[in-house]
Amino acid sequence: MSRLVCVSNRITLPRRAVVPGGLAVGVLAAMQNTGGLWFGWSGELEAHPAATPESLTRGAITYATMSLTQTEYDRYYRGFCNTTLWPLFHYLTDRFRYDHEWHVGYRAVNRRFAEQLAPLLRPDDRIWVHDYHLIPLARELRALGVTQPIGFFLHIPFPHLEVLRLLPPYAELVRDLTQFDLVGFQTAADEQSFHACLAGVFPEGPPRTRTGAFPIGIDVDTIIGEAAAAMGTEPVKRMITGLIGRRLMIGVDRLDYSKGLVERFSAYQRFLERHSRHRGRLIYLQIAPLSRDDIQAYATIREALEQATGRTNGRFADTDWTPLRYLNRNFPHPTLMGFMRAAQVGLVTPLRDGMNLVAKEFVAAQDPEDPGALVLSSLAGAACELEGAVIVNPYDLRGVSQAIEAALTMPLAERQARHAAMLAALRNHDLRAWHTGFLAALG
Ligand code: G6P
Repeated sequence: MSRLVCVSNRITLPRRAVVPGGLAVGVLAAMQNTGGLWFGWSGELEAHPAATPESLTRGAITYATMSLTQTEYDRYYRGFCNTTLWPLFHYLTDRFRYDHEWHVGYRAVNRRFAEQLAPLLRPDDRIWVHDYHLIPLARELRALGVTQPIGFFLHIPFPHLEVLRLLPPYAELVRDLTQFDLVGFQTAADEQSFHACLAGVFPEGPPRTRTGAFPIGIDVDTIIGEAAAAMGTEPVKRMITGLIGRRLMIGVDRLDYSKGLVERFSAYQRFLERHSRHRGRLIYLQIAPLSRDDIQAYATIREALEQATGRTNGRFADTDWTPLRYLNRNFPHPTLMGFMRAAQVGLVTPLRDGMNLVAKEFVAAQDPEDPGALVLSSLAGAACELEGAVIVNPYDLRGVSQAIEAALTMPLAERQARHAAMLAALRNHDLRAWHTGFLAALG
């Protein structure tokens, strides 16, 4: 069988904590299934990066990594990837910035990825490239004579043409995507946006590019087992003891402006104002590990959230009750699943999201006999599948506040029915279906 080569900017090295976000979990699962080579950034900055990648083998997976220079990191990662493409692809156009130097840096790092990867390739490899950091990689590899099949999966949304057109080199980006043998998206809507962009960039008819929607999922039974087992562990028991009988609402997100946390905190404040009978009886636990915190927009959002937390707690807290517990730390995955199982409500309200695996994990973590209810943004890819959630528009503070009330008062039979329907949807598109489906399509 041919070897699988995965390429992503961020990789999960052995014995390092898994980076929060769907990509690291998804690629790791694919690699564990087939073995192979995982190539990416080491996470390190060096003045003089080595000419050849560093490699490490654990079991069936070989990890090959290269480091970046400070300038590459600034232009490629902080600049073009996370200040240009990330906000633009999430339709957050007011946060979008463009600098020609960043684009030059982006192309240069993609070239260096290609130069370092190409010598490691074997004739029967299949190459699977992940996410917006590496859109030009197929073109760069082809220029070096690589002829093996190369697939691409975009973990974040793909925007409509009129949004993409804000980016000066948008046509180049679309042309670069046609260099892949297969381009995969999270949802059919993203795939349609891409086809509209193809039609816009190639008015005489686009080159034949195979595309598909491959919604990423979770390993349902692993999460179910993890969540149930976590209930007996110290950290989860301590958290539950700390509730002193109060009900729990939970959010778990990377601290990213696309997650809608500022809007969510405002909606919660409104909920406490309008639904006074829940005061003193509900605790909202928001876990938000810091992410990309050396980028200005992320520092700004962090400050806004600290202020909002202070406002809500200052205004509503009592001597024995804090309405909002806001934590910037991360927890081991099983502990998070236990926290979710202990919650009556899960809040997942991104302003835009490719898929959002937290929503799926929340559903799988519930006790089917007495499941919590999920409040989910209509602008997350997961909303296409999780019809049993209470669907909200994250900008509609009144609507989110009403949805929290509806979730807290939902009768048991309705919670069970919605949970069963969502669990069936999770099994339909689980993590295995995602990687086997994509690789089968790549051929
Ligand atoms: C999202 C992206 C991933 C990224 C992750 C963490 O899930 O789709 O590509 O790895 O966020 O962000 P970071 O910038 O720390 O890699």
